[in-house]
Amino acid sequence: MAAEDRPIVIVGCGPGSAKYLTLAALEAVNSADVLVGAQRLLDLFPGIAGMRIPVEKGIEKALNGIGRHLGDGNIVVLVTGDPGLFSLARLVVKRFGRRNCRVIPGISSVQAAFAAIGLDWGDAAIISAHKKDPEIGTDWYRYDKIAVLGGRESSLRWIGERLLPDQGNRRVFVCENLTLEDETVREIDPEDLSELVASPRTVVLIIERNVLE
Ligand SMILES: C[S@@+](CC[C@H](N)C(=O)[O-])C[C@H]1O[C@@H](n2cnc3c(N)ncnc32)[C@H](O)[C@@H]1O
Repeated sequence: MAAEDRPIVIVGCGPGSAKYLTLAALEAVNSADVLVGAQRLLDLFPGIAGMRIPVEKGIEKALNGIGRHLGDGNIVVLVTGDPGLFSLARLVVKRFGRRNCRVIPGISSVQAAFAAIGLDWGDAAIISAHKKDPEIGTDWYRYDKIAVLGGRESSLRWIGERLLPDQGNRRVFVCENLTLEDETVREIDPEDLSELVASPRTVVLIIERNVLE
C-alpha cells in the first residue's frame, strides 16, 4: 500500500503554537474526514469540517473510535510534538499496524527546549517522566545533556530527588509552555527543583556545566 493510501495519518503538531505546524501537517489535517486528538490540539484547527473525536483520559476509547471509523475516509490522529517521541502514535501503530498508518513528523518539545538555550542535542539523552517516574540505570551519568519530559505534577520532584543527586556538576533549565505566548525558560538552582510547581507542558534540561562554557 502506498503511503498516501494508508487510512490513518498520525500528525505531529509541534509543541503547541500554530506557528510551529508544518505544511505537511496542515495538508493532512485539511483532508481529514475524522480528526482525533486532545482537545487543545483539535483547537489548533477550528475550520476543519470532519468529525472530531477528542482524546480524553481513556486512550482506549479513542483507539476504539478510530477502529469504528476505519473505512470512513481519512482518519487523522493529532499528537503533540513529534509522533516518534513518547506519543499516542505508538499505541495507534500497535493497534492498527504500520501498514495502515502514515506518520508525519513534527517539531518536538525537546527540539524547542534545546533551541531555546541555543544548544545542539544530537548527543542528548531523553527521558520521559510524563506518565510516571521512570526506571533509570546508572548509564545516564555519561550524558552531558539530558532532557526530561516533565509535564506531570510530581516529575520535578522525581528529577530533584532521584536524578539530580547523581548528576554531578550540572545546570538545570526549566522550559515551560514552549512556543506558546506564556513560554518561560529559566535556569534554576538544582536544589529548588523539588519544590517547584511547573506547567503540564514542561521540559527540564540538565546540562553538564562545561558544555555551556
Ligand atoms: C506525552 S509527551 C509528548 C512528547 C511529544 N511527542 C514531543 O515530541 O514533544 C508530553 C510531554 O511533552 C512535553 N511538552 C509538550 N508540549 C510542550 C511545550 N509546549 N512546552 C514544554 N514541554 C512540552 C512535556 O514534557 C510533556 O510532559
